[in-house]
Amino acid sequence: MSLSIAIMEGDGIGPEVMRAAYPVIEAVSERFGIELRLENADAGDRVKSGTGAALPERSLDVIRSSDACLKAPVGQCAAEVIVKLRQMLDLYANIRPAKNLPGVASPFGDVDLVIVRENTEDLYRGMEFEFEGGAIALRLITRKATAKVAEYASKLAAGRNRGKRVTCVHKSNVLRFTDGLFSRTCRETVAKFGDVLYDEMLVDAAAMNLVRNPGAFDVIVTSNLYGDILSDEAAQIAGGLGFAPSGNIGEANAIFEPVHGSAFDIAGHDVANPVALILSSAMMFRHLGMKKAAGEYLLAADAIESAVSALLSKGIRTPDAGGTCSTSQFGSTVAQAIRVAPVAP
Ligand code: IPM
Ligand code: MN
Repeated sequence: MSLSIAIMEGDGIGPEVMRAAYPVIEAVSERFGIELRLENADAGDRVKSGTGAALPERSLDVIRSSDACLKAPVGQCAAEVIVKLRQMLDLYANIRPAKNLPGVASPFGDVDLVIVRENTEDLYRGMEFEFEGGAIALRLITRKATAKVAEYASKLAAGRNRGKRVTCVHKSNVLRFTDGLFSRTCRETVAKFGDVLYDEMLVDAAAMNLVRNPGAFDVIVTSNLYGDILSDEAAQIAGGLGFAPSGNIGEANAIFEPVHGSAFDIAGHDVANPVALILSSAMMFRHLGMKKAAGEYLLAADAIESAVSALLSKGIRTPDAGGTCSTSQFGSTVAQAIRVAPVAP
């Protein structure tokens, strides 16, 4: 069985972190006999200046017909690309784990939470208008999209070995209709999953509790903009944006990408941290493994994560994390570790 993977190299540090991820996915492909067909689906600033379109039709078609897309960060026109893709392909859940990694400095030692961010609605619909002396934005929240993301969060919590708890983050004391609907729908949806505990937190309190005691969280479900903000905060708490992967999940399609941006300030110097993208590729194999009931994809995900952890605990890291390893060296070292790792019992 072969997998078709759409590849978006993006802008800034995008192409170089992607070049570090290539040997890693090649190593798991060889090791676990997974035939990969990589197809270019580029988008972003470079593509726009060449073709006029930030997200060319062809790239959209490639992503649509792929099993999954692995995406590096896009620059100035990031919103034109990823926000559009999330909405067009109905990638309704954005999964953003924040977890301590061995050897990666964090003020906390027990962070292992997942933010499940609603990914298609909210202020991200871009319904903004100007008038003389002001501007207005409309916020969309529907029961359908909220129930879908809450269901995803519930299943995720049920399958994890933490508190089996979903915390809904909202601001319904002010946004009575939109966040009122969001929190009510989450409450009703999670209640259908008997063994999953449920609580609610206002978004300001959640932002505070994340820096006070992040170990107390299991799965957070929240709306699009709060999820955007809280996932950067959670990533920093767990060790930094350079280590934070994510997955945009829909029924038919999925896109895996780092939480971080295109970091033009360090682009081209072979110093960017490729871990977030490499761990995003592990999330991709895990997602496909579950979806297609394919054990070898799950083994690939485990192998990537173990190899990354093993390197980090040996102090092999890029300069942002206090190491001296280059982007490309890191990628090839992970690949090598996967090739020589002993077979799991
Ligand atoms: C993210 C990014 C995007 C977002 C930007 C690039 C539009 O910050 O994926 O978190 O706001 O969702
Ligand atoms: Mn963001």
